[in-house]
Amino acid sequence: MILETDRLLIRPITIDDKHEIFKYRHDKEANKYQGWIPETIEDVELFIGEVSKQINVPGSWFQLVIVDKETQVIVGDLGIHFIDSENKQAEIGCTLNKDFQKKGFATESLKRVIDYLFNELNKHRIITSIDPDNENSIRLVERIGFRKETHFVESILINGKWVDDLIYALIEKDWDRKSNK
Ligand SMILES: CC(C)(COP(=O)(O)OP(=O)(O)OC[C@H]1O[C@@H](n2cnc3c(N)ncnc32)[C@H](O)[C@@H]1OP(=O)(O)O)[C@@H](O)C(=O)NCCC(=O)NCCS
Repeated sequence: MILETDRLLIRPITIDDKHEIFKYRHDKEANKYQGWIPETIEDVELFIGEVSKQINVPGSWFQLVIVDKETQVIVGDLGIHFIDSENKQAEIGCTLNKDFQKKGFATESLKRVIDYLFNELNKHRIITSIDPDNENSIRLVERIGFRKETHFVESILINGKWVDDLIYALIEKDWDRKSNK
């Protein structure tokens, strides 16, 4: 499965992506709101080996990379968690290399993936989990149309610290397909 937008290709991660992924995922400061920060290339190899080989498997994470069509450089990655046993809900998360932030790449790729989840995989609801201090991420999901549903207090242990967690959600019937094509 390969998804395309004006500027980007979104495709499943492969083991050959490990060095590019490591380069930006290793950055502790840029990824301070995230639980997974690889210390070594082997950590990335393990991560790629553990993600699902097949998309849309209940209980699994599927991992995509976001590639700039013009340069073929990986600008970021995007994970999809197929949460429930009925397989009607998904969780998504996105990370951009900080050199490629503030260009609209996250918005462009997330919209395409959301279209795919609603239209091709017939999902009913998509959620995302965000640290309340992660302002870029909050702006990103609100721009796309996610609704804030819940603020959990000290509900996640990240890097040894209990942090709050916002849950944002998008329902299929609220997704305006025309404006997101
Ligand atoms: C969350 C994250 C992906 C958001 O990235 P981002 O670059 O802010 O989002 P986009 O790529 O959609 O870019 C949108 C921004 O680019 C600007 N922009 C510039 N050129 C643009 C263009 N041609 N098209 C659209 N937007 C453009 C927009 O105005 C917007 O700026 P604003 O947020 O200041 O209003 C990024 O901050 C990140 O990777 N953070 C670290 C990982 C993380 O915490 N992930 C979240 C948890 S899963």
